[in-house]
Amino acid sequence: MRHLFAGVLVALSLAALGAQDRGPAQLPDETAAQKEARLAWWTDARFGMFIHWGLYALPARHEWVKKYERISDADYQKYFEQFNPDLYDPKAWARRARQAGMKYAVITSKHHEGFCLFDSKFTDYKATNTPAKRDLLKAWVEAFRAEGLKVGFYYSLLDWHHPSYTIDRNHPQSPANDAEFDALNKGRDMAVYRQYLKDQVRELLTSYGTIDIIWLDFSFTGGGRGKNRDDWDSAGLLRMVRQLQPGIIVNDRLDLLDVPGGWDFRSPEQFKPREWVTMNGQRVPWETCQTFSGSWGYFRDETSWKSPAQLIELLIDTVSKGGNLLMNVGPTARGTFDERAKDRLSAFGRWMQLNGPSIYGATQAPDTFKAPPNSLLTYNPKTNRLYAHLLAWPMGEIVLEGYADKVKYAQLLHDASEVRMSARKSTTWISEDSRAGDLVLRLPILKPDVEVPVVELILK
Ligand code: GLC
Repeated sequence: MRHLFAGVLVALSLAALGAQDRGPAQLPDETAAQKEARLAWWTDARFGMFIHWGLYALPARHEWVKKYERISDADYQKYFEQFNPDLYDPKAWARRARQAGMKYAVITSKHHEGFCLFDSKFTDYKATNTPAKRDLLKAWVEAFRAEGLKVGFYYSLLDWHHPSYTIDRNHPQSPANDAEFDALNKGRDMAVYRQYLKDQVRELLTSYGTIDIIWLDFSFTGGGRGKNRDDWDSAGLLRMVRQLQPGIIVNDRLDLLDVPGGWDFRSPEQFKPREWVTMNGQRVPWETCQTFSGSWGYFRDETSWKSPAQLIELLIDTVSKGGNLLMNVGPTARGTFDERAKDRLSAFGRWMQLNGPSIYGATQAPDTFKAPPNSLLTYNPKTNRLYAHLLAWPMGEIVLEGYADKVKYAQLLHDASEVRMSARKSTTWISEDSRAGDLVLRLPILKPDVEVPVVELILK
């Protein structure tokens, strides 16, 4: 009798585990206008902070170190035992993000290594059991919200620590051939892991109030020993996410690109798209995520840090094509932002403090406006202002072809000083006819003390 009862229980729970909907994903659909309204705050914000923080901050040589160096769980354990971010001050992080001009932030609640910054009921592999002894996510959410930023969680679909997660080609223990894969995967069961992943995402979306963004990372299909929508039960997971947090914005890595409602924005990674990202010929919301120096986690010896000018240009370039920029910081294992990161954030802040109007609420300029040489245009449709970002400071004047009769007033954005306009160029000895439709801007010879100066054109 006892046995029978236990058997029924096992059967019931197995049925629950297997109950994920694998059929055609009927995800809640919405009209294009409804989606646009749901994403409006994010589209206007344009600029956010990504934070990759986990045990990999200790080795400080890439967040994929466990895979790259094929470190076993036993050998990786030392980082868990040593994790003691004694200088962790999320309020200081949040202040820096706000001062850099960022409007939202997304943090790794769990990365591929499987370690959780939050106090999950479903694992012991979490910050509360390290010398940190607390839920590091809770204070983070509170601090970022208090600075007026929207908050998002990155959650890794991959898990290199969970015992049921099957060994795939990205796993630190990936062997050389199929027979070994099969041997290693005996006893591992993705149904168990799928439940774990769903339980943790539910925890994340029910324990910390309103969560504005969820970043689920990532599917790797094709090529063998990958993982796709069936491994994660992507449709079921996403349905749960939208049910728990109806307003939430979701990235595109669940392997549901072909499913209506299966993603909210495209996420080109460490890559500058050549134009507004499209799907089936339609412009779609997009966000590029970028690093300061190449890796996402703290990497002590990396020297490939981008310059402030490169980074500011990256932000402008992104907005000039209708996209968002999610700029990553990899905090140290002490819980601090490294000086090089602080330096880049301050550079963003100095520029954004004066030039924010060319970024927030701005987008790609209408096709009727051609960007002058060495410049990037953005446009604010609400205020009907056009912004010319001058990447190379010109010698005295620039010609805006076809702008005549379109501009009411022009000024440098950072100090609201007038930029005089005229219909013709100031030529001597040769006469270079101004073409009909040209508008010539007269600029000072001296480049203003701004990383990338911006001319604000108030349109008629
Ligand atoms: C990749 C990497 C990962 C990083 C992420 C950010 O998927 O696996 O380390 O977190 O991209 O977009």
